[in-house]
Amino acid sequence: MTAVDEIVDRYQGGKSALIQILLDIQREYYWLPKEALIRLSERLEIPLNQIYHIATFYTAFSLTPRGRHQVMVCTGTACYIRGAPQLLHKVEEMLKVKPGKTSSDMRFTLITANCLGCCALGPVMVINGEYHGNPTTADLGHIFEACE
Ligand code: FES
Repeated sequence: MTAVDEIVDRYQGGKSALIQILLDIQREYYWLPKEALIRLSERLEIPLNQIYHIATFYTAFSLTPRGRHQVMVCTGTACYIRGAPQLLHKVEEMLKVKPGKTSSDMRFTLITANCLGCCALGPVMVINGEYHGNPTTADLGHIFEACE
């Protein structure tokens, strides 16, 4: 049985749980692989294009491979003034990955955001949902090292 089958079974095959099922598939793979969506379409008897429509509508879903850890650097105006370009540059160098891309070892995906709603902490970086305000190079080293 595939991971998709297990997830669908958890929701007792409910078509109404499609978004929740997609979130679980993404949690399993860190993104939505095509093969998984084809299997989901078969299991739920929902046309594949309808599933793609939902997957592309919500920004929470990714149709391209993502790393195990999502690193988001805010480049909104307040963070920009407080040094976001330097922070982004440092993160790019340390992870060896450009914004929008995933490291070759599939460990990190680097994303930029416009405002994360905590401008006073800027420049802000969020990794796996945890906020870090104005992290130093040493802080970044510890944070990234802790990510398997
Ligand atoms: S501009 Fe970065 S958190 Fe608001």
